[in-house]
Amino acid sequence: MSDIDFYLDGLSQLPAVIERGEDSQQEFAVTMLQFLQLEHLYESAINIVTTYLNNLDGEFNVRFQRNPIHNIESRVKSAESIVGKLQKKGLPITPESARRNLLDLAGIRVTCYYISDIYELANMLTRRDDFVLIKQKDYIKHPKKSGYRSLHMIVNVPVHLSTMKVYAPVEIQIRTMAMDFWASLEHQLKYKTTAELTPEISEELRACADQIAETDMRMQRIFMEINDL
Ligand code: GTP
Ligand code: MG
Repeated sequence: MSDIDFYLDGLSQLPAVIERGEDSQQEFAVTMLQFLQLEHLYESAINIVTTYLNNLDGEFNVRFQRNPIHNIESRVKSAESIVGKLQKKGLPITPESARRNLLDLAGIRVTCYYISDIYELANMLTRRDDFVLIKQKDYIKHPKKSGYRSLHMIVNVPVHLSTMKVYAPVEIQIRTMAMDFWASLEHQLKYKTTAELTPEISEELRACADQIAETDMRMQRIFMEINDL
């Protein structure tokens, strides 16, 4: 039994008021409490990574008089999205199944200034000996067909709870402001229309992504030149 199974199992000690309920009520209560416990675990994991990123940003400011990070956003996946995703994948709809099958329950999006900042931050995240990189997808070197660019990492983060240490996976998306500009508008456009985008519009969006990426690289070159890098 892994630490987390043990942790979630601890909920068999239900509050007295629930113990008096019917079996089905008890089952529902256990599911609810397990879900809340998972939510708390993932929130804690997000806090650990966010604090680390903010500290790195501060250190860069002190050492190089520059901040690599423009913005950090985070979220724990909502119950509604969890159920939707499990349903779509034909998986059981339980907290246990969500934990095992969904690696993006905790999500952090980091927006940087330059492409080089992305890789520096990624290196610092993997260099920590208590963070375990489970998966990385480089959609900058290999953009998606849509034109989407970002560096995606799934990092297992140790959360120190009152009685044990439990690892929780966190999806970290790192991108430049330019990549974020495109991804945000494209996301909004996709969700505004219920119909699929036409091939012409998809192609136009991809062309925009390529043009934005070209500008990103030009800005990177200017940055390197000015800083003698
Ligand atoms: P999911 O089941 O969606 O999580 O897919 P996956 O596990 O293969 O992950 P993937 O690497 O495709 O990244 C998923 C996340 O990246 C999405 O939730 C979006 O935040 C972002 N993303 C991926 N592709 C696109 C895209 O074409 N456009 C935009 N705007 N965002 C994208
Ligand atoms: Mg996802």
